[in-house]
Amino acid sequence: MDATYLSLVLFGLVVRGYSDNITEITSTSSSTEASTISETTTEIVVIEPLGTRGLYGGSYYNSNARNPQNNHYVHGVYQPPQKDYYKRRDYFRDDGSDETLDYYLGFGLSKMTDQDFQYDDFHHYYHDINRTIAENETIPSDFVVGCHPNATFLCPENTETVCLMNGTIFCMSTISAVVPCPQNETTACVATVVPCVRACVEVSYNFEEIFIPCLSTVVIVDVYEDNKGKTLGQVSGTFVIMDALKETERTFCVAVIVDPKPKQTD
Ligand SMILES: *[C@@H]1O[C@H](CO)[C@@H](O)[C@H](O)[C@H]1NC(C)=O
Ligand SMILES: *[C@@H]1O[C@H](CO)[C@@H](O)[C@H](O)[C@H]1NC(C)=O
Ligand SMILES: *[C@@H]1O[C@H](CO)[C@@H](O)[C@H](O)[C@H]1NC(C)=O
Ligand SMILES: *[C@@H]1O[C@H](CO)[C@@H](O)[C@H](O)[C@H]1NC(C)=O
Ligand SMILES: *[C@@H]1O[C@H](CO)[C@@H](O)[C@H](O)[C@H]1NC(C)=O
Ligand SMILES: *[C@@H]1O[C@H](CO)[C@@H](O)[C@H](O)[C@H]1NC(C)=O
Repeated sequence: MDATYLSLVLFGLVVRGYSDNITEITSTSSSTEASTISETTTEIVVIEPLGTRGLYGGSYYNSNARNPQNNHYVHGVYQPPQKDYYKRRDYFRDDGSDETLDYYLGFGLSKMTDQDFQYDDFHHYYHDINRTIAENETIPSDFVVGCHPNATFLCPENTETVCLMNGTIFCMSTISAVVPCPQNETTACVATVVPCVRACVEVSYNFEEIFIPCLSTVVIVDVYEDNKGKTLGQVSGTFVIMDALKETERTFCVAVIVDPKPKQTD
């Protein structure tokens, strides 16, 4: 049994306020019973109205928000546009593909030094899409584990970072937030915003909007759900029975896949 999923759900449900600012909360979740997993996670909780926290974290931008500074959710924090955000210019090869998104993800990966897994490449529609990807997948909720603290910040605005027990990380977006791709209206895309590398479409803002086509649709099946639509939740450290999420709320578009490579031992 792994309590991490439940406590993540809890954060999504209870920690919301009304302020433009962001509150950083450190939570320690130790699972009960037959488990040895115990971890400390730093969660950035995004406060409405600028964005809404997803089930697994991240932030969905609220397009009705009053946002005079043009803040966007960048590596875990709402921040205004800055010139030369990435500083280093070598996060990823420059082959004219979607360079900006590659820098964004490369920057995020460079912050991760996981004990169990090593990461150095990722897959999205514009980058190394030579991986076998199931069109539809079903994943049990207890296969989702708490992310390495710095992995939490990997995925861009309008996606959530989801870490799986086998080390694979998905940047995924709730299906209700996907939009038709501008380049092909019959396919679904995640619309995200990331800092520019050099040439911005809208230079004055230093942010670029990118549409990432969905690679796969994933349904996270709640292993605690009973046949009456109830599930186990946790409130202030106590397990309670609560309404299970609807299937649409557990259906996601996977836009980025990061696979682990075996950790080198020396
Ligand atoms: C947000 O935080 C900044 C710096 O701590 C502060 O100056 C500002 O007043 C805060 N804004 C709101 C809406 O609380
Ligand atoms: C997270 O990233 C920061 C900044 O790069 C780094 O100093 C820190 O060691 C990282 N934490 C872990 C647990 O890897
Ligand atoms: C995918 O393509 C990249 C770049 O062309 C290459 O480095 C990588 O090994 C390929 N991966 C697979 C699984 O074929
Ligand atoms: C995937 O799911 C969608 C929606 O339920 C369905 O239309 C499609 O046929 C499925 N594809 C595969 C390969 O099962
Ligand atoms: C890990 O599991 C997910 C979900 O079943 C799957 O899509 C992914 O390919 C797996 N990763 C590896 C490295 O096997
Ligand atoms: C749009 O996407 C659909 C589904 O993937 C594909 O069959 C079609 O050829 C695409 N159209 C164009 C113009 O690329």
